[in-house]
Amino acid sequence: MEALKKLAGVKAAEYVTDGMVVGLGTGSTAYYFVEELGRRVNEEGLSIIGVTTSSQTTKQAESLGIPLKSVDDIDVIDITVDGSDEVDPNFNGIKGGGGALLMEKIVATPTQEYIWVVDDSKLVDQLGAFKLPVEVVQYGADRLFRHFEKKGYKPSYREQDGKRFVTDMKNYIIDLDLGKIDDPIALGKELKAMVGVVEHGLFNGMVNKVIVAGQDGVKVLEA
Ligand code: 5RP
Repeated sequence: MEALKKLAGVKAAEYVTDGMVVGLGTGSTAYYFVEELGRRVNEEGLSIIGVTTSSQTTKQAESLGIPLKSVDDIDVIDITVDGSDEVDPNFNGIKGGGGALLMEKIVATPTQEYIWVVDDSKLVDQLGAFKLPVEVVQYGADRLFRHFEKKGYKPSYREQDGKRFVTDMKNYIIDLDLGKIDDPIALGKELKAMVGVVEHGLFNGMVNKVIVAGQDGVKVLEA
C-alpha cells in the first residue's frame, strides 16, 4: 500500500514546473508528493512557492526547505495535490480523514489544477462507506450532534488520545456514519446551511484529475 501511495505522489510531482504556486495536501499519500517536491527543490533547483493545508504538512515542507507562503498572500494557486478518502464516478469525493478538510478546501478553492492522489481502493461507486467528516465550531457542537442523531446520521466526535480532536483551526470534527450518500450535492448544501458547521468533507466536482495507483501501475482520470 505504501508503494502505491508513493507511486501516485511521485507521479503528481511531474505536473509541477518552475515558478508555480503549489498547494500541498495532507495525509499519507500527499506526503510522498511533498517529499518528491522537496527532492526536486533541493536536487534540481526547482523554484516554487508552497501553500500548505495543515500544520503537519507545514512541518514537513519546512523540514525539506520548500519555500512557503500563506494562502492569504497569494491570489491564485497553479496546482494543488492532495489525497482523498473516497472518489465516485462523478468526481465527487470525501476528504477529511486526516482532519484537515477546512484548510484543504480553502486551498483547493483558488486552485487552477486540482489533483487527487489515491490508491485504487479509494475509487467507489457511491460515497458514504467512509464516515463523512463535518467540522463544527466548539460552541454549540452538542446541539448539532443531537440534530445529526435525530436525522439518523449516526454522528460520533472525532477523538485523539481519549479527548475530542481539535483541528488546526480549533474546531471539532463530527463524523457521520451514513453508509451511502444518495445525493452528495444536496447533502453538501444541507450541511453548509447549518449554523455552527464550518465546513464538510464533501468535495463535489472540484477535482480536475485523479491519479490512481494500483497493482497495474498508475492511471490518470480526467474529470
Ligand atoms: C486529510 C485528508 C487526506 O487527504 C485524506 O484523508 C486521504 O489521506 P490518506 O492519503 O492518508 O489516505 O483529507 O484531511
